[in-house]
Amino acid sequence: MADLKVSEQKAVSKNSREREKGRSISSLSRLFSFFKPYKINLMVAASILVVTAGISLTFPIAIRRVVDGFYVGSPQLLDYYFSAAVGLASLLAIGTALRFYLVTRLGERVVTDIRVALFNKVISMSPGFFERLLTGEILSRITTDTTLILSVVSSSVSLALRNMLLLTGGLIFMFLTSVKLSLLVLLLVPVMIIPILAMGRRLRRLSRENQNKIADSSGIASEMLLAASTIQAYNYTKWARRSFNNISEDSFKVAKKRIQVRSFMTALIIFVVFVGIVVVLWIGARDVKAGIISPGYLVQFIIYSGFVAGAVAALSEVFGELQRAAGAAERIAEILNSEDPIQEPENPETLNLFAERAIVFEHVIFCYPTRPAEIVLNDLSFNLESGKTLALVGPSGAGKSSIFLALLRFYEFSDGIIKVKGKSIRDFRLSDLRDQFSLVPQEPAIFANSVLENIRFGRPEASDQEVEIAAKKAAAHDFIEKLPQGYQTFVGEKGVLLSVGQKQRIAIARAFLREAPILLLDEATASLDAESENAIQQALEELSQSRTVIVIAHRLATVKRADLILVLNQGQIVSRGTHEELLTQGGLYSRLAKLQFLGN
Ligand SMILES: Nc1ncnc2c1ncn2[C@@H]1O[C@H](COP(=O)(O)OP(=O)(O)OP(=O)(O)O)[C@@H](O)[C@H]1O
Ligand SMILES: [Mg+2]
Repeated sequence: MADLKVSEQKAVSKNSREREKGRSISSLSRLFSFFKPYKINLMVAASILVVTAGISLTFPIAIRRVVDGFYVGSPQLLDYYFSAAVGLASLLAIGTALRFYLVTRLGERVVTDIRVALFNKVISMSPGFFERLLTGEILSRITTDTTLILSVVSSSVSLALRNMLLLTGGLIFMFLTSVKLSLLVLLLVPVMIIPILAMGRRLRRLSRENQNKIADSSGIASEMLLAASTIQAYNYTKWARRSFNNISEDSFKVAKKRIQVRSFMTALIIFVVFVGIVVVLWIGARDVKAGIISPGYLVQFIIYSGFVAGAVAALSEVFGELQRAAGAAERIAEILNSEDPIQEPENPETLNLFAERAIVFEHVIFCYPTRPAEIVLNDLSFNLESGKTLALVGPSGAGKSSIFLALLRFYEFSDGIIKVKGKSIRDFRLSDLRDQFSLVPQEPAIFANSVLENIRFGRPEASDQEVEIAAKKAAAHDFIEKLPQGYQTFVGEKGVLLSVGQKQRIAIARAFLREAPILLLDEATASLDAESENAIQQALEELSQSRTVIVIAHRLATVKRADLILVLNQGQIVSRGTHEELLTQGGLYSRLAKLQFLGN
């Protein structure tokens, strides 16, 4: 199973590539734009935050007054203070709950938006994008990375804001209480900040690596789960388990390193903060004894420095979380910012439906982006008139399917020109271009839905009746009727509950239903019995009267009636003509024909 190794290698080299370019925080600005629609929500939450932080900041003053006035003031004053405290407490409670609601809702809202934006981006990417990233990895970015962002937005950001307010407010009040003691405290601040900054960077890198590993493991898991029966048939389970285990352990190792750094950072900060408090308290206590300040002021000061210390500790925690989220945000921004190599034209042309020439290839040279050295289509030229049928034959790997991919503009070709209805395909909007084609791919894509909906995929607005007509044409109606729930039968993920030939007929029915002017069939009848194939051939015959068709087939019987046959070998057209012409010419085609008819 060399495939798995290849994907592992791919994941590894991709990670190092990503790490290099992933550093820039500027990519994060992409995510900030998701907050723009919710400015008002943000501002309300921020004002509530200011109010509640303000309330918290008044408590120490009240406490000092109570402490210093305990013996001298009147009893009414005490009552007054304590009832005010209860009032403030209720304000604080309501404000905090409201802030929690607003901020958490905002978090869920923004993350939903990000998930949708990610999916919207990814679903329209050309196949080249998916050759670089495994599907499971993309899913991991859509789910785990966004979840991380959610935790940051909904808890850490509000914690950070609150603690920043408490920090500045606390510092101001500390100075108002005692300048001398405050200056002492400030001496400690750089001692705290420097290690936080240094370790924060390390944390961010580790977090990103952690998320990459998780994504790699989902990539490998999804790939192997989709091939579970092959893995079992080859008794490869042991190796599959081992390679999943290895990658999971790798992920754990990185997580462990991250947690270590984080724990060390926490210990350091708590130690520094508490030692600081003890020192300040000590000096303050001496001042009280010497009569320089009152006990109330010392209590007030200690509570403020408690606020400040608490805020610093919370901020360092939040800072760690933010670093973690920044790693995730980079991974998300990377997808959102990635550019599709296939670009839409700025001024798209309108299609001329009545053009005489349906398809023209002129000296087309094409290679896949992952293998730029291997020329897959080499100087390919042909043209196909509207309403005619073209057949492509040739050995496996000759480049037949690649012609379809270039024609539908899934990949960019490097040289030459491809025209549809007289105009370069690069001048059309992609959706307009693809509206021209019904494609039956070599491996039909079947969705986990009913047979009915799978066929209706060809034209979502088609009625049940139209679906049935298309199914009849594709020789699929009979087998569908025999399924347990007929057209409503659920076909399972990727159509696992159907046979290969049945899937193929559903794909053909879908193409018939689509009613696009050009039909592209890639080995469409390869897995069918003679009878079904015959039935489809007849339907195709009928269909090709009114349509332009390109058919790829290994079985020459199915291409006999084509108006033109191109024989491909290694990306080049080695001969062209009708069935009879090619037979008399000898060469590859007559060799293939002899083999097949003798075989039959
Ligand atoms: N996505 C891809 N990236 C890189 N190379 C590819 C890709 N798809 C196909 N190729 C290569 O391009 C060449 C032509 O492939 P293509 O699928 O067009 O062959 P084909 O004629 O359809 O063969 P078959 O009859 O087996 O379907 C092959 O050498 C193949 O390895
Ligand atoms: Mg092919």
